[in-house]
Amino acid sequence: MERTTNFNAGPAALPFEALVKAQKELLDFNQTGMSVMELSHRSPEYDAVHEKAISLLKDLLQIPEDYEVLFLQGGASLQFAMIPLNFLPQDQAAQFLMTGSWSEKALAEAKVYGNTIEAASSADEKYKYIPDVSNLTFNEGAYLHLTSNNTIFGTQWKEFPQAQIPLIADMSSDILSRKFDVGNFDLIYAGAQKNLGPSGLTVVILKKDMLEKENPQAPKILKYSTHAKANSLYNTPPTFAIYLLSLVLEWMKEQGGLEGIEKRNNEKAAVLYDCIDSSKGFYTGYARNDSRSNMNVTFNLSNDELTKKFIQQAKENRMSGLGGHRSVGGCRASIYNAVSLQDCEKLADFMNKFQKENE
Ligand SMILES: Cc1ncc(COP(=O)(O)O)c(C=O)c1O
Repeated sequence: MERTTNFNAGPAALPFEALVKAQKELLDFNQTGMSVMELSHRSPEYDAVHEKAISLLKDLLQIPEDYEVLFLQGGASLQFAMIPLNFLPQDQAAQFLMTGSWSEKALAEAKVYGNTIEAASSADEKYKYIPDVSNLTFNEGAYLHLTSNNTIFGTQWKEFPQAQIPLIADMSSDILSRKFDVGNFDLIYAGAQKNLGPSGLTVVILKKDMLEKENPQAPKILKYSTHAKANSLYNTPPTFAIYLLSLVLEWMKEQGGLEGIEKRNNEKAAVLYDCIDSSKGFYTGYARNDSRSNMNVTFNLSNDELTKKFIQQAKENRMSGLGGHRSVGGCRASIYNAVSLQDCEKLADFMNKFQKENE
């Protein structure tokens, strides 16, 4: 069997070792004679899986004691709505740092519930950069929301702003890719389908004191406290996705935890950005250099025809997922944790060869 080198933006590549383990255990998990998918979510066997995933996450991200780790559904998109529903009172405004389409979607949902302020934005240059907010102070309003990595445009916050109000981050496309201090955030959320596991699971890391600010009028299923009290077992959780998350997290530990993963991610991104920068303009990066993402490398070729040819030939060489998002076009290589340095070198070799044949 030859595996395809997978540069999909999400759902995306999963660690091969995690997939092999899941395959091995698929029909008979831990001598239960059943698949994890067939276990009751109230069984001790599943409970061990659930607890292991929580404890690995706490360990890898060094999550402080006063935080809850929740396993929810509805994707990051449900969080766009659930956050303002709970934490945006009528008499306050939420502040947003606008860095791309996902920030726009988060903002649009918050507008349904209350007042919003665009504290900074890079929309003026089609989200090619991360705005400089070092001169801004965030001390008023319900919360400050940002998107840590902009999957579509290929930009990433290098340093996070300090805020005196609750800081909330959509980390869907770069959680667990680098070290950061969870203690600076009040709520972090991430759809699993990039760095964590399969789609269908959303991880929320929430400071416990946020629960006291929750909207008492919110439907029970949409309250964070409902899920916190029930240890994310209020209703049936996506058990198989949580099981795969635990395998992915085990794999991450074997890679040297966040430190090892971050070092590898820096090396991987450098291979591709170096290739773009040394191409003498054959490839042009979309993101401004100081804002480049280590997860989504966005670039363009000189015209649509050449772009199509590039993507087609890459496919013939078993490299998939290189088309840019439909809203921006061009190319994008998503190089999440499970994409190896060798995968990036393979792509860079192909890019160099393609350039020689087509310039
Ligand atoms: C940064 C970011 N936020 C939110 C989403 C939406 O996630 P979901 O499809 O899980 O709702 C995505 C999906 O690609 C994303 O990249």
